[in-house]
Amino acid sequence: MIVRSYRFLDLETPVGFMTEWITPVNHFFVRNHMFEGAITDPAAWKLTVSGEVLNPLSVSLADLGKMPVRSVVNTLECAGNGRTFQNPKVPGIQWSKGAVGNARFSGPSLKSILEKAGLKDTAKHVQCRGFDLVPGKVPPFVRSIPIEKALDPDTLIATEMNGAPLSPHHGFPARVVTPGWVGAASCKWLSEITVLDKPAEGNFMNPGYRFPDQPGKPGEPVKPEDTHSLTALTVKSLIASPADGARLKRGAQTIEGVAWAGEADVTKVEISTDGGASWNQAQLGKDQAKYAWRLWSFRWKPAKSGDYVLLSRATDSQGRTQPDAAVWNPSGYLYNAYDQVKVYVQA
Ligand code: MTE
Repeated sequence: MIVRSYRFLDLETPVGFMTEWITPVNHFFVRNHMFEGAITDPAAWKLTVSGEVLNPLSVSLADLGKMPVRSVVNTLECAGNGRTFQNPKVPGIQWSKGAVGNARFSGPSLKSILEKAGLKDTAKHVQCRGFDLVPGKVPPFVRSIPIEKALDPDTLIATEMNGAPLSPHHGFPARVVTPGWVGAASCKWLSEITVLDKPAEGNFMNPGYRFPDQPGKPGEPVKPEDTHSLTALTVKSLIASPADGARLKRGAQTIEGVAWAGEADVTKVEISTDGGASWNQAQLGKDQAKYAWRLWSFRWKPAKSGDYVLLSRATDSQGRTQPDAAVWNPSGYLYNAYDQVKVYVQA
């Protein structure tokens, strides 16, 4: 894994690992805004549900274990993935390609817990807070999602990832998984759910995790009132192999990678081996699920030796196609320009 920050652990997955549909937990990126939450006694852990509810609750891990389990294969991507490619550069963790992974998350749906608590008519947003350790004066990682998404049966309080209890890095003992949305909507080390009559406030709702309503000029500031809170991920593909800078033996090659589209489905992936002059359709892998990435591959026989620029671009069921240039924004969110690797084919 590539260490992007030690103080608050941020680990990036090397893009070359992205040749499997399900990302193994030890290769799954980690994004922490503060010190990780840790508990010594899982039996003592409690999740409280309060706010605009009829019966405030406190549930244990054993209580969660008695509720019906749902599994969702979800591609989790950090909104800042690809930030390093923004031009001009923007501050923040300089993620390259690998703040993304695809895992099977299991646990009760958030809806089932909210229904147990009974929602008042005033319930509009669901705010989550984890028990990660807030250093000094840093504001806590508190965010909310709209009630409609919270009541989607696929939005989970996950206790398992890839069939095993969540690991400490990924939110043990329970985390929210808001499928198809930016990773920030999936609160780890969950301890408090507060139902609100309006969106949560605080640094991680505003100015954090907001996107310009209209693309502005690269490098120019955007007024807070001209932004909206990030929700679903956009359409994107990555080339896992060959690696950027690879020297390839002459002969048939396989170009392969992954593509995802948040709440939409990937409908095609196209590859260019001539820097974008022409495009050919890649073959999509057989594994698929609503919020999960698709593997893709393309057989390529370079006609001659020399330098090549390989590009990939995905299209989705909402008619969106990955653009040749991403929308520049001051926080560097949702970077999704065509992926590119440069290779040399030997004589
Ligand atoms: N939840 C808490 N409590 N604290 C955090 O710092 N980081 C968020 C989200 N949930 C975070 C959190 C962000 S920005 C992302 S991208 C995902 O967790 C990353 O999940 P992962 O570390 O399991 O890959």
